[in-house]
Amino acid sequence: MKDSITRELYQYARLISKAEHKVLQALRERTATVEGSHMQITPEQGQFMALMAKILNVRKYLEVGVFTGYSALAVTLAMSADNSQTFALDIDPVTMAIAKEYWTKAQVEHKITPIMGDAVLSLAKLVSDGHNNTFDMAFIDAKKSDYIIYFKHCYSLLRPGGVVFIDNIFMNGDVLSDKPKESAAAINKFNLFLQNLNVDYCVTTIADGLTIVRKT
Ligand SMILES: C[S@@+](CC[C@H](N)C(=O)[O-])C[C@H]1O[C@@H](n2cnc3c(N)ncnc32)[C@H](O)[C@@H]1O
Repeated sequence: MKDSITRELYQYARLISKAEHKVLQALRERTATVEGSHMQITPEQGQFMALMAKILNVRKYLEVGVFTGYSALAVTLAMSADNSQTFALDIDPVTMAIAKEYWTKAQVEHKITPIMGDAVLSLAKLVSDGHNNTFDMAFIDAKKSDYIIYFKHCYSLLRPGGVVFIDNIFMNGDVLSDKPKESAAAINKFNLFLQNLNVDYCVTTIADGLTIVRKT
């Protein structure tokens, strides 16, 4: 067990990290002015996922929960192949408009397909449209009470050996509460669900808890 990282160590980690891409930095600064800005992933989580995308040679990436587009941009910038594709699912057209603005600034908008609407329906459509077993990597970061169904769809959509990241599996500590809020109770359910599946996975303490699952 390790004690929580101190503010000073966190700042040191940021200081010694690879510099953030200038459009990601600009997007982070813009997002700080938007309601719900705390929902954005941290720069170090973005760098981790981007590096994983490079290690896995990701060409087809699925994101469930885009907000203003930081994680989608971080991963898409790491996908160097000309024909790489990101499918970006969200329900909010206002934040998606900000995302598109910054994807354009970073000159990757042609690689990203935004899909608007409830993610459960959008994922079911991707399955029925024949995308099963084709994605190299996925990221689940939308409505907590739908995590189990998102996971089942993402798992079908991933190719064997593909990887899905699941965010906020600590819910800022609320998963330990005697009376967890609805979203934390849903995450507790998801965490138990995953433990009872026969799949390779790892719970990391990155940011608000990030679980990584590899499709068998
Ligand atoms: C935590 S934020 C995503 C943060 C993002 N990954 C980033 O790096 O900034 C969650 C997003 O899920 C979206 N969302 C919530 N419920 C949804 C649903 N039922 N279907 C699709 N998207 C949903 C919200 O609109 C919000 O943009």
